Amino acid sequence: MNRRTFLQAAITSTGVVAVGGVGVLNPRSGLAAKPGGGPRNPLNVPPTVVPSGALTAARTQVDLGGQKISWAWAYNGFQYSGFLPGPTFRASRGDSASIQLTNALAEPTTIHWHGMVVETAADGHPGDPVQAADSYTYQFPIRQRACLNWYHPHPDMRTGAQVCFGLAGAFIVNDAEEAALGLPSGPYEVPLIVRDANLDRADNLTYNPKSSGFTGNTWLVNGTLNPQHPVDATLYRFRVVNGANARIFRLALGNGAPLTLIGNDGGLLTQAVQIGWIAISPGERLDFLIDFATLAAGASVMLKDLDSGWDLLEFVGTGAPPAPGDAGTMPTGALSSITPLSNPARTRVFDFDGMSRINGKEYDLTRIDFQVPFGETELWRFNTAGNAPHPVHVHGASFQVVSRAGGRNTVFPWERGWKDTVLLEDGETVEILIRFEGSSGVYQYRGLDKGLYLLHCHKLEHEDNGMMANFVVV
Ligand code: C2O
Ligand code: CU
Ligand code: CU
Repeated sequence: MNRRTFLQAAITSTGVVAVGGVGVLNPRSGLAAKPGGGPRNPLNVPPTVVPSGALTAARTQVDLGGQKISWAWAYNGFQYSGFLPGPTFRASRGDSASIQLTNALAEPTTIHWHGMVVETAADGHPGDPVQAADSYTYQFPIRQRACLNWYHPHPDMRTGAQVCFGLAGAFIVNDAEEAALGLPSGPYEVPLIVRDANLDRADNLTYNPKSSGFTGNTWLVNGTLNPQHPVDATLYRFRVVNGANARIFRLALGNGAPLTLIGNDGGLLTQAVQIGWIAISPGERLDFLIDFATLAAGASVMLKDLDSGWDLLEFVGTGAPPAPGDAGTMPTGALSSITPLSNPARTRVFDFDGMSRINGKEYDLTRIDFQVPFGETELWRFNTAGNAPHPVHVHGASFQVVSRAGGRNTVFPWERGWKDTVLLEDGETVEILIRFEGSSGVYQYRGLDKGLYLLHCHKLEHEDNGMMANFVVV
């Protein structure tokens, strides 16, 4: 299939090509549960493991909750299978990761560690496919600051399908600065991978892409349909990934209470921010606190998506006091210090054109689109004439968002600090400052063998259709 025709075939997770695509969609509208309606399923929380061991990408049956057993493509391993997403990796700054991927799918795949600064051989570049029935070990040192990253496939033209069928997981990095804050931990720190989905009549995940992006008629949080999570009377920390192919969520609490935002893609912000709602586009991450100290046993609070109206996740109070070792405190002072990038050596302009091009070109695996000098700060300007939203993502470094002109015309509180993905809406020009050397300055990834990275739209159908560029840090 070439880039022009890949969108024509809708395929279900059973591997069957569905002619006409839409015909296999679940016709029941009741799946998008109304507020308070429909039984809630216990939220899946994947086990937390150190990033050393073996992972298999395989077509497998998973439990989505409520007796809905779906064929999906899942990361199994670390004594964990039968659920989405994959296990949550947790490491400290200074550790190393060594994860052997076995590809038990019927097509090539890779793992990209979105947000992790790694050399090309570990970056899951589409030019480094792991063929069906083959294995590959991703190895990299972890030298960046504490943050929430995530892992997902990045094969040529098949990222949208593979993510939609379920391949994704969280990767948490901790460090001493973060530990000193005494934030909630253990059961009070909960990763949430939020996405939309379509199920066929037999409850199997279905992928029916459109060139404007896949949209699902229901949602999954940690692979659970219509989830519910019991919460003790204490402070919780939620580590949120937008793992959707194309959907933007606008998160808020149903009771109108603010969220306390403390971090995003690249780790902690300088200060906590109380905020009524937060928009998160595909690939972005959030780190926020919710205090359930006064939530009575049996009372509930909803995490909502204001855009779709979906009640994404219901928190139900247990009334129980927190387990002392894991209870955290609301930070009052500075969270972290962030040195602003400044004085760019040069400016680059990237136009996100149509639904498949950057600066007029569709992606070519073998073409290097530009070269970036190592260690020099650059200003990158992202424009679009239409067909947005385009969540723009850069591999190999975090960046700082400096301005947004046109459209929403502001840099939002959740876009401060270090980012690796930023939402470009129609009519907007977004400027970022970026420097390739790792957030800690200790990485030396440069040259074709180590410093080949990607710039792309993280709407996965745009990415697969060619809205992606190769660049080399030199
Ligand atoms: Cu999360 Cu290049 O992608
Ligand atoms: Cu990435
Ligand atoms: Cu796009």
